[in-house]
Amino acid sequence: MNGFDKGPILVTGASGGIGGATVRHLVKAGAKVIANGRNGEALDALSKETGCDTLAFDLESEDEVRGALENLDLYGVVNCGGFGGEIATPMETDISVFDKVISINARGALLVTKYASQSMVRLGKGGAIVNVSSQASLVGLRGHISYGSSKAALDNITRVSALELGEFGIRVNSVNPTVVMTPMSAWYWGRPEVQGPFLDTMPLHRWATEDEIAAPIVFLLSDGASMISGVTLPIDGGFSAV
Ligand SMILES: NC(=O)c1ccc[n+]([C@@H]2O[C@H](COP(=O)([O-])OP(=O)(O)OC[C@H]3O[C@@H](n4cnc5c(N)ncnc54)[C@H](OP(=O)(O)O)[C@@H]3O)[C@@H](O)[C@H]2O)c1
Repeated sequence: MNGFDKGPILVTGASGGIGGATVRHLVKAGAKVIANGRNGEALDALSKETGCDTLAFDLESEDEVRGALENLDLYGVVNCGGFGGEIATPMETDISVFDKVISINARGALLVTKYASQSMVRLGKGGAIVNVSSQASLVGLRGHISYGSSKAALDNITRVSALELGEFGIRVNSVNPTVVMTPMSAWYWGRPEVQGPFLDTMPLHRWATEDEIAAPIVFLLSDGASMISGVTLPIDGGFSAV
C-alpha cells in the first residue's frame, strides 16, 4: 500500500515539464491528482491524457490560492510551480526579477502550503508535501543569485513546515534536482560552454530526465517514506556531493 487512497494530491506547475511528469507517475501509482497551472489548454490536455482533475490559479495571488484551496480536501501537495528568472550576478541583478522569482518560487509555495495544510489538519488524516527546490539552493551557482535565493527560502519553508506540521502527521520534504532540459533551463544550460564544464564536475556526467525527478517525488509522498520529513534530497547525479 502506498497510501494514495487517503485523498487527492495537488500538483502545482502541472502544465510544465517536471510537474506534468509527476502527474503521470502519480496517476499510474493510483493517486487521484488535481493539476494546477495557469495555462488552461495544457492542463486540459493533461487531464484528457491522464484523467486528472484541473484547478487553475496564479501562485502570485493570495486571493486566488485561498479561493482555490480553502475547503478543498487534500492528502498531499507537490509545490512544483516555478520561474527561472534571470542569469545574473549580485552586481547586475534586476531587482524586479528577483522579486518575481521570490514571489512565485518561495511566496507562492508558502501560500499553497498555508491553505492546503489548513485543510489537511482539518481532515486529520496526516499528509505529505514535496517542494520542488533545486541544486541551486545547495551550492553557490554562478548567475543564480535570484533563483538560488528563492530555492534556499523554499528549503527553509520545508524545514519549518516539517517542524510545525509534524504533530499533525504531515511530512514535508524538498527535492533538489540538477538541470532537466525543459524550456525553463535549456536556453542557458544547453549552451556548450556552460554544459561542458558543469557536466565534467558531476559524477554521473549527464542531465536528469523529468521521470528521474517525478519518481523520487512520488516516493516521498508515499507511505514508503513514512519516517522521512524535513530533508532536502539532491537528485543531482552526485553534483553537490563532490
Ligand atoms: N528544469 C530544470 O532544470 C529544473 C531544475 C531544478 C528545479 N526545477 C524546478 O522544477 C519546477 C518545474 O520546472 P520545469 O522545468 O518543469 O518548468 P516549466 O516546464 O517551465 O514549468 C513551470 C511551471 O510553473 C508554472 N508557473 C509559473 N509561474 C506560475 C504562476 N505565477 N502561477 C501558477 N503557475 C505558475 C507554469 O504554469 P503555466 O505555464 O501554466 O503558467 C508551469 O506549469 C520549478 O519549480 C523549477 O524551479 C527545474
